[in-house]
Amino acid sequence: MTSASGTARSATAPQAVRVDGPRLLERLARLRAIGATADGGVTREAFGPLDVEARTLVATWMAAAGLEPRVDAAGNLVGRRSGVHARQLASGSHLDTVVEGGWLDGAYGVVAAVEVAAALADAGVALDHGYAAVAFANEEGARGTQGMSGSRALVGPLEEGELGALDDDGRSLRDRLADAGGDGDRIVEARWDAATVAAFLELHIEQGPVLASQGSRLGVVTAITGRQAFDVEVRGRPNHAGTTPMELRHDALAAAAEVVLAIEALPSDGAVRVATCGFVDVRPNVRNVIPGLVALSAELRAEDARGLDAAMATVDCRVAEIGARRGVAVSVRWGQRVAPTATDPRLLQLARAVASASGGPWTELPSGAGHDAQILGQVVPIAMLFVPSRGGVSHAPDEDTDPAELVAGAQALVDLVLAVDRDEPPAEAAR
Ligand code: GLV
Ligand code: MN
Ligand code: MN
Repeated sequence: MTSASGTARSATAPQAVRVDGPRLLERLARLRAIGATADGGVTREAFGPLDVEARTLVATWMAAAGLEPRVDAAGNLVGRRSGVHARQLASGSHLDTVVEGGWLDGAYGVVAAVEVAAALADAGVALDHGYAAVAFANEEGARGTQGMSGSRALVGPLEEGELGALDDDGRSLRDRLADAGGDGDRIVEARWDAATVAAFLELHIEQGPVLASQGSRLGVVTAITGRQAFDVEVRGRPNHAGTTPMELRHDALAAAAEVVLAIEALPSDGAVRVATCGFVDVRPNVRNVIPGLVALSAELRAEDARGLDAAMATVDCRVAEIGARRGVAVSVRWGQRVAPTATDPRLLQLARAVASASGGPWTELPSGAGHDAQILGQVVPIAMLFVPSRGGVSHAPDEDTDPAELVAGAQALVDLVLAVDRDEPPAEAAR
């Protein structure tokens, strides 16, 4: 590595590169204002005007950090800088949020990825590798679309029919992309040549309680959970709530309630870690009519794909039994599968060394949430770092992290990028 002024990097006294904490926090606060809800949360749905506004702002920060920002056909914002090495390191996360979500899920990793470039520039240090900071499009799956469409477009084609499929508002992903400066017809052009990417490193809030409850300031992620989405439709018979005897009913909602409880019980046999039914739609949804039709949306998560497969078989079997016993038709439509992904062993070693050198308490843990890193992990080596989430809260307005921990996490990302660039652990003497 050479510094920006052309002096060779010393092997014994590596140049310290420090994040600018106030800049990082001020940028996070500015993003928080874009889509702010009255209760301190954020709603910034993918491809909407607020998402585009956030992306445009981040592009200015990329440019100020010496990166060349560009929006690709999948709606991802990628800011690049080349290095002397043909391959590049990449870091980033997403700017979109769930409805009534928090201010840090995604935005933190994007701002920190830009801060890496800014801190390197401030210190006059250049990486040997090229560097790309990325704000991935539609990580959350806005309005019923399949999530992580931006990162999936980087590693391969989207699913058959996905560009034309209508979302909950009756609009296609192709139309949404056009709204946001992407181009569904040229989406293949967004694809990355995996051979040119040496590593993808994502910094994120934990979104769970492990780090905070242990008093750890940093988490080194060992693997990212797999996720299997599915929808269940329960078709009974709508009828008069006053005249229909109990034994003659085919109540779709009562049957759906059993299905929800069967889903909740799935983790008890250990095949999956968690199982959630998060959406229900009841028709006609009227007090004095026996419900005739219920739609449920649910998901399973496990670190092992075989666990997801086993739980799917259990779901098929349990809903068939509930339907037969209650005289209702229950059908399951299996949806998006995001495969579990392990951290690259060499990057894991370097991340452990960075965490140890940080001087604070840290721990290793699997990620219970999904991340763009796991999509990138299908084709390039990945690693992730976490900072604590206060009270383990995320996807909710109360999502928060101590400012000092946000700054320390970004510093750990800088240190990890430098360690990966040199392929050597950080020197204690440098801190
Ligand atoms: C991502 O936000 C997830 O739901 O895990
Ligand atoms: Mn999220
Ligand atoms: Mn996220």
